[in-house]
Amino acid sequence: MNPATRVASLPPAGEGYVLRPWRGDDLASLLAHADDAQVARGVSDRFPHPYTRADGERFLAGEVVNFAHPVYAIEVAGQACGGIGVRPGEGERRHGAELGYWLGRAHWNGGLMTRVVGAFAPWVMRELALYRLCATVLDSNPASARVLAKNGFIEEGAQRCAVVKYGELHDLRVFAKVRRSLQDAP
Ligand SMILES: CC(C)(COP(=O)(O)OP(=O)(O)OC[C@H]1O[C@@H](n2cnc3c(N)ncnc32)[C@H](O)[C@@H]1OP(=O)(O)O)[C@@H](O)C(=O)NCCC(=O)NCCS
Repeated sequence: MNPATRVASLPPAGEGYVLRPWRGDDLASLLAHADDAQVARGVSDRFPHPYTRADGERFLAGEVVNFAHPVYAIEVAGQACGGIGVRPGEGERRHGAELGYWLGRAHWNGGLMTRVVGAFAPWVMRELALYRLCATVLDSNPASARVLAKNGFIEEGAQRCAVVKYGELHDLRVFAKVRRSLQDAP
C-alpha cells in the first residue's frame, strides 16, 4: 500500500456526530441501518441488499473496504449509523482520491451528511496531500448531489450510461473539489 494513504490523526467530530474507525461490536447497528433498499440504491453493489449478517461481518473484518485507508463509521448517540471514507488513487493518481458515504434513513434530511462531508473533505485532503477529491453520484440521487454542491464540490460532467443498477441504466454525475497547490486551503 502507498504509505501516504495512512493518516496519523482522527477526523474532527462535529455537531451531533463522531467519526471513528469501525469496530466488531458495530454489527447490530450496522445491520439496523444498512439493511435498507433505499440506502443500497444510491451506492455501489459492494453494498448489497438485503444486507445480511454475513455481509456485515465481512465488512467489519475489512474484507470489503480497505480499512488501512481513511474509512470511518459515523456515530450518532453512541450508534454507528453510517459511513464515510476515501479510496486513494495510485501511481500518477496518488494525489487524488474518491469519496464515498452513506447514512441510515432514520437520520436523513437533517443536514447531517452535509456537516460530515463539510468537515471530512478538507481534513482528508490535508491529511493525504490531495489535489483532487472526487465523488460520483447516480443521476437518480439528487440528495447526494446536493450534499456535494453545498460543500463546494463542482459538477464536472457525467459518465454517460455508466451504471446498471437494479436493471436500470444510469449516468454517473462527477463532482470534485480541487486545489492547484497543496499550500491552498482545501
Ligand atoms: C445522500 C445522503 C448521504 C444524504 O444524507 P443527508 O444527511 O440526508 O443529507 P443532508 O440532509 O445533509 O442534505 C440533503 C439535501 O438533499 C436535499 N434532497 C433530499 N432529497 C431530495 C430530492 N429527492 N431531490 C432534491 N433534493 C433532495 C435535501 O433537501 C437537502 O438539501 P437542502 O439542505 O438544500 O434542503 C443519504 O440520503 C444517503 O445515505 N443515501 C443513501 C446512500 C447514498 O446515496 N450515498 C451517496 C452515494 S454518492
